Amino acid sequence: MYETRMINLRENFEEGIEAGIDCIQNGKVFAFPTETVYGLGADALKPEAIRDIFALKGRPGDNPLIVHVSSMDMAFSLARLTKDAERLAEMFWPGPLTLVLPKRDCVPYEVTAGLKSVGLRMPDNAAALKMIDKSQRPLAAPSANKSGRPSPTSAQHVYEDFAGEIPLILDGGPSLVGVESTVLLLTGEHPTIVRPGIITPEMIAEVVGEVYVDEAVLTPFKGGATLSPGLKYKHYAPKAHAIMVEGELEAMKKRIAKEYDERSADNKRCLILASEQSSDFYGDRNCVIIGDRENPITLCRTLYDALRQADAQAYDEVILEALPPYAEGLAYMNRALRAVAFELIEA
Ligand code: TXA
Ligand code: MG
Repeated sequence: MYETRMINLRENFEEGIEAGIDCIQNGKVFAFPTETVYGLGADALKPEAIRDIFALKGRPGDNPLIVHVSSMDMAFSLARLTKDAERLAEMFWPGPLTLVLPKRDCVPYEVTAGLKSVGLRMPDNAAALKMIDKSQRPLAAPSANKSGRPSPTSAQHVYEDFAGEIPLILDGGPSLVGVESTVLLLTGEHPTIVRPGIITPEMIAEVVGEVYVDEAVLTPFKGGATLSPGLKYKHYAPKAHAIMVEGELEAMKKRIAKEYDERSADNKRCLILASEQSSDFYGDRNCVIIGDRENPITLCRTLYDALRQADAQAYDEVILEALPPYAEGLAYMNRALRAVAFELIEA
């Protein structure tokens, strides 16, 4: 048990950095901000510390961690970068793109869950970069949530999941992106996205030509071998029962109102995760606006916080709107479909 210390980086940047580096050097697990979501980090080259990350999260042992770097030299020291990888890193790092590459021997199998590949990314966050650079240690970090829960987009979310279990949470304010990085596999025949993010297939294709999207991105896990170990498991789930409605906007809104009213008549407390385009239609039904459907990145940014609020307010039913699964809408649908356990209603 720890007395979890929370340091606000906007007020005490240097103090926070020093406390983080102290954890890295002592093999301790701590939480820090990135531009995507908060990470639960430790020195990637210390197997003991990596085991602690898995134990703290309750993470399945076959789901590898992402390793965060602060320089290209550090990336080269951990993995063999292909030409495509170098071009992508130059274009998108620091930023929300994880490149899965053949690992070098120095990367422990604890980090990669036994795989010969390692996922690398350079986060676009000053505190994260500075701690990695100053300690000269790569930082292994999954999202700082208990396995299965929505990823944390604020220090408060991390505190909800890990108070008393870790010594330090660095508070960098709300996450700018709000969904995890795009994960791109560069170890197979074709570059393949195994987890979509705000670096879209279109953006990646511009650099490397063609890019594939693993079918697991929008479908439930059917068992057997998979390129996307992270998508096998129950994910992003609120405690409430959740459904999603898809269809053309007018039909979708009507169907959502109908589902809401039927469930309410059953004495269920319902919440709609609405959009700017739909909230007026829902009238005085409980709803939160999570973004602008014309700009899916806005829905990505608030989805996890909305799911956690639905939990905090003990709703019984949460109703989500579907988006067309293109560009950043693909990242939203990947998370939202898992949040509703693929319970999708056609309007
Ligand atoms: O934005 C992010 O990526 C955040 C922040 C903290 O950087 N991290 C994050 O980590 O989301 P995590 O552990 O929650 O998700 C890592 C994902 C999982 O889906 C995992 O299966 C995949 O990356 N992954 C990591 N290494 C892999 C590998 N060698 N092969 C295939 N997938 C890999
Ligand atoms: Mg995660």
